[in-house]
Amino acid sequence: ASESGPYDAVIIGGGPGGYVAAIKAAQHGLKTACIEKRGSLGGTCLNVGCIPSKAMLNNSHIYHQTLHDVKKRGIEVEGVSLNLPQMLKAKQDSVVGLTKGVEVLFKQNKVDYIKGTASFVSPTRIAVQLNDGGETEVEAKNVIIATGSEVTPFPGEGLEIDEVQVVSSTGALDLQKVPEKMVVIGGGVIGLELGSVWSRLGAQVTVVEFMGGIGGAGIDEEIAKQFQRSLQKQGLKFKLNTKVLSAEKKDGKVHVKTEAAKGGKEEILEADVVLLAIGRRPFTKGLNLEKIGVEMDNKGRIVIDDQFNTTVQNVKCIGDVTFGPMLAHKAEEEGIAAVEFIKTGHGHVNYHAIPSVIYTHPEVSWVGKTEQELKAAGVEYKIGKFPFTANSRAKTNVDMEGQVKFLTEKETDRVLGVHIMGPNAGEMIAEATLAIEYGASSEDIARTCHAHPTLSEAFKEAAMASYDKAIHF
Ligand code: FAD
Ligand code: NAI
Repeated sequence: ASESGPYDAVIIGGGPGGYVAAIKAAQHGLKTACIEKRGSLGGTCLNVGCIPSKAMLNNSHIYHQTLHDVKKRGIEVEGVSLNLPQMLKAKQDSVVGLTKGVEVLFKQNKVDYIKGTASFVSPTRIAVQLNDGGETEVEAKNVIIATGSEVTPFPGEGLEIDEVQVVSSTGALDLQKVPEKMVVIGGGVIGLELGSVWSRLGAQVTVVEFMGGIGGAGIDEEIAKQFQRSLQKQGLKFKLNTKVLSAEKKDGKVHVKTEAAKGGKEEILEADVVLLAIGRRPFTKGLNLEKIGVEMDNKGRIVIDDQFNTTVQNVKCIGDVTFGPMLAHKAEEEGIAAVEFIKTGHGHVNYHAIPSVIYTHPEVSWVGKTEQELKAAGVEYKIGKFPFTANSRAKTNVDMEGQVKFLTEKETDRVLGVHIMGPNAGEMIAEATLAIEYGASSEDIARTCHAHPTLSEAFKEAAMASYDKAIHF
């Protein structure tokens, strides 16, 4: 029997895609339920992703600054030491505060929160194994699948995740001791963010990356090189163009066997903890998709059209489990658009204007095209750059590594891409995203008054440099 249905919309998964879709659906007057098995809302992002990693990044940065940076600012501190249990508690407090907050939002918006694991019986009927025991079924006019992603396991021997010695990001957010030596497999976003955390807390971190550069897909090559130099100065070591073959656990350590892509030279890296961060893959286990005919591609992603429809009528899909970048804000945008399609028949996500941020220090952010993409596409473009060393606020703050780089269309001056490495790059990229969304030219930005002294003046001057000359550089 149906619990309290039939529902206008049932959302499977309570991550940033699913919970935002559920709230928006309820706000639009749809009778809505959200099914989540984790026992708390917020998905990967709030529980074991964006939020705990940013808490650890922020607090490890403060610790590192206190040890190595504040003296020159006239602050004398003595007896600084790490209280790791307290740092982990502060992280967990942020997680609990935010996940409980989403529960409150569900109540305020009258979303039914069903705690359990969903499985399709038919396209309009879903069985739920309740977390508290027992089973129920719900009837839905529309379903949105938002089941997210999981860590991609490593195919080689000896690298099965145990979350103690061989950890995924989840284990790396909860290490009870600072490892002496950490080997990170994968120099993408997770590897660099969590590698930075443990490096700042005292670990010797070596990042092994398959490709010739760091930062994962979508980063501008020039920025990636500059970023790598910055992280190296902080003490991280990189082995690029290097393949991990296998590993062996011996005497409490993990011996990681690597091979150089060129020449095939083998090397053994010893680690106390190995962080596996070679990407994530869509999660659809137990949904029973084959039974109702929802198609998946060869990477396990649920196939959708440009209105988020799967191959089964009235079943939509959003977020990490389908195409596109695996980012929380992308999932949220899709959640709102998918609901708008249900309610009004119209919805929109601009995939050319989705920002990316790596929350290290300095931060790295970008939106739009990279220089290498423009070259490959044969687009004629102009470049405008401005270094933070020439920005008054960055100088005042003694925090001036990095630059803002604009890429504009030569003929029209339209902004095609913006790439930033620097303090607060993650906040600044919002301005670039707005520019791309509105089809702005770099002149539009440079003629917009920016407050002094702010870091955002570097943004304005980089825009100015792309069609004219900057003032301060
Ligand atoms: P998810 O957040 O994965 O949520 C899916 C939910 O569905 C899960 O809670 C799961 O339990 C539930 N579920 C699955 N199957 C079922 C079922 N059958 N029944 C009921 N429930 C089910 N992105 C950013 O934009 N910024 C960041 O700073 C950032 N940092 C990250 C750091 C780390 C360490 C990681 C791992 C990821 C990070 N991400 C970040 C990525 C971000 O977490 C994801 O892109 C985002 O969570 C995707 O949202 P989603 O709603 O599609 O899926
Ligand atoms: P990723 O795709 O960013 O990076 C994986 C890296 O591992 C790539 O550089 C890849 O070349 C490398 N790699 C793959 N196989 C390898 C192998 N066998 N040996 C060595 N290197 C190998 O994936 P990551 O870092 O695991 O993150 C997963 C997802 O989570 C990302 O797609 C990202 O969207 C999301 N995320 C976002 C964050 C943010 O927005 N700040 C933070 C953390 C995660």
